[in-house]
Amino acid sequence: MIDLRSDTCSRPTDAMRKAIAAAPVGDDVYGDDPSVKELEREVADLLGKDDAVYMVTGTMTNQVGIRAHTESGDSVLFDQNAHVYILEGGAPAAFSGVLPRLLPGVRGIFTPENVSQALGVSHRFFPSTIPSPIKLLCLENTHNIGGGKVWPLDQLKAVCDLGRANGLALHLDGARLWHATAATGIPEREYAKHFDSVSVCFSKALGAPMGSALAGNREFIARARRFKQQIGGGFRQAGMMAAGALYALRHNRERLQEDHIHAKMLANGIADLPGIALDVSTVETNIVRFGITSLAAGEFVEKLYERGLYALPSGPDGVRMIPYLNITPQQIKDAIDIIASVANDHKAKASAVSVAPRTSSAAGY
Ligand SMILES: Cc1ncc(COP(=O)(O)O)c(C=O)c1O
Repeated sequence: MIDLRSDTCSRPTDAMRKAIAAAPVGDDVYGDDPSVKELEREVADLLGKDDAVYMVTGTMTNQVGIRAHTESGDSVLFDQNAHVYILEGGAPAAFSGVLPRLLPGVRGIFTPENVSQALGVSHRFFPSTIPSPIKLLCLENTHNIGGGKVWPLDQLKAVCDLGRANGLALHLDGARLWHATAATGIPEREYAKHFDSVSVCFSKALGAPMGSALAGNREFIARARRFKQQIGGGFRQAGMMAAGALYALRHNRERLQEDHIHAKMLANGIADLPGIALDVSTVETNIVRFGITSLAAGEFVEKLYERGLYALPSGPDGVRMIPYLNITPQQIKDAIDIIASVANDHKAKASAVSVAPRTSSAAGY
């Protein structure tokens, strides 16, 4: 099987497994794990922050971040297709008790005007006690449902400056911040400096078996450690896993451009097939999203699966595929052939009307 469902399917290499086996460990809940400490220091330095805390998943780092910035009843500004809002099990409501206020981003990118609109205007005739106070603004770079879209740095800065001027805290879901850097050459810390907290993942494309980190200033990270523990995130000899993350950071980031090339190869190879709606120019990083008009997306991915290719359905007519560390150029060529064979078998049902290329789906992962 060629598995292009997600870059979270990336697997540890032999060298990473050796680093994991050799990792010095201690009890992380007591602050004693040397490998965890080394990872946290390295992430904090990379992102230009005081401190960082290692956790089990990107969901946990994002949601602990939201919890540490807010109190129950506060409002948070999210892009309408943000992972933190749609794809994290309802945690903003369940864990932090916050109200989402949605911004009309296009492929995850919104404008300062969108933020201003959501903030509204204050007036002495309208008591500030009436609405829920907006405390936090969240961005996602690159944007998953937005098809791996990279935030333009100027726009990111303008949005963050506006948020800050209005007293908001700023959180970045940087699960794939490495990919933004690989695509633009802009160092991670140049993006990170506009935020109070940044979540990054080692489990996406880099081959680490698990784990994410949340970075910020010392006081914020101390508060975040409390909420990590509260939701059962104290994972003792976590250095075994942190060693994989360290290896991933040091050795597997610089190769991410290969994944971007593979994503483009895949997109170019399938864009003209019958029933596929894909604008190749939307593929900026490692995520390929497209629309399918000949079959329901669920049926289409079943047919691909029968022929040896795993893909992810995304809503009724969207499909997502992502190359990563263990995917070879030959596998991309084979994937193109499999997609072509299914698309050609069903071309009679392909819509003659061209549909807008799909880059997002509210129901899609
Ligand atoms: C943008 C984004 N943020 C956060 C996450 C959550 O990461 P995890 O699966 O480690 O919880 C994902 C997962 O794919 C993601 O794509």
